[in-house]
Amino acid sequence: MAYSSSSAVPVANGDQVTVIDFRSDTITRPSAGMRQAIAEAVVGDDVYGEDPTVNELQRRCAEMFGMEAALFVPTGTMGNLISILVHCRERGLEAIVGHKAHILLNEQAGIAQFAGVIPRTIQNLPDGTFDLNELRRLIRPTHDVHQPNTRMICLENSHNFCGGKALPLDFVKQVYQIAHENNCVVHTDGARILNAAEALGVHVSEILKYSDSVNMCFSKGLAAPVGSIIAGTREFIDKALRMRKGLGGGMRQVGILAAAALYSLEHVRPRLYEDHLWAAAIAKAARKAGQGVVHISEEGVDTNMVMFEVVKPGLTAHLLADRLLQVTEKEKEDLGESIVVKSCAISPMVTRVVTHNDLNTDMVAMAIKKISYVLEEFGKEE
Ligand SMILES: Cc1ncc(COP(=O)(O)O)c(C=O)c1O
Repeated sequence: MAYSSSSAVPVANGDQVTVIDFRSDTITRPSAGMRQAIAEAVVGDDVYGEDPTVNELQRRCAEMFGMEAALFVPTGTMGNLISILVHCRERGLEAIVGHKAHILLNEQAGIAQFAGVIPRTIQNLPDGTFDLNELRRLIRPTHDVHQPNTRMICLENSHNFCGGKALPLDFVKQVYQIAHENNCVVHTDGARILNAAEALGVHVSEILKYSDSVNMCFSKGLAAPVGSIIAGTREFIDKALRMRKGLGGGMRQVGILAAAALYSLEHVRPRLYEDHLWAAAIAKAARKAGQGVVHISEEGVDTNMVMFEVVKPGLTAHLLADRLLQVTEKEKEDLGESIVVKSCAISPMVTRVVTHNDLNTDMVAMAIKKISYVLEEFGKEE
């Protein structure tokens, strides 16, 4: 599942073209307020543990997650890798990972490449969960010397390639119970865990009491430029601190980035619901206009992502994404304006649209106009 949104954005001859970017929530830029927080950050050398802004961010996050300690890391990919390396120090260990997990598909399977952990895949259901009996079946018996030992279960919440689904709390709880009954730990790739908490209407600590560690990104829906946080027990974070340094992730006066992250918790987190409302509105319009062209999961849109599963014969996710980048003469006449929508073909038949902090209600309304027009146009084509 490679990210490959079409890049060429046409500009109509001398016309005003409005370009609205829905490729990912990672494209967000720091706001004026966030830049000011960055400029004013009090900093120190974080490798010596002396950056007060980083320390404050780590304290705040541990408290928010209901976990003992937290550690600021450069990226979500490194946060997941460090967590896996800390949980799986022995050789020959196995982790059970959903077949659509970001950890597996979009982090170069670093779990195998760098951590030497065997990823054993479990089929993700459309809502990002998996079958619990299948999970029980996949956990290997510890007494059999022939087999690797299952050490961890990875969850992703919200689930990116399952359309931003928030995992039901009861599922997360049962996975945790099964894991602990079998001497395993649970790691949550919660790059967008605050979106999941918002969708479920619970405090994030309610979700994470069923996880031994978590990775959360500030550079996604929270709209900060860089940074992730991992959290777990004090012992886990002490080991993670060493691992981060070993991987080259020790940063110095990084309070300037922690300040952006703190700002995002204060100012961006409270508006995540708006991203979810926008995504739901786009899904609703696309379902109506796109009959026979795209299928939007009946499971519904939980958070800030809408997956357009292309169902019209001859149409592909790339063709749809490309058409959303074009403005035809007829369309200009019909709509009375030129709108370009950037989306992302995440697989041959799935085009993804993600809402985020750099949009506003007018932009979403324009995008709905454009998307509906294009879907109806494909619907009319023989
Ligand atoms: C679910 C999920 N986990 C982890 C990551 C990795 O984050 P980063 O790009 O900061 O390495 C992403 C990035 O999009 C993601 O969507």
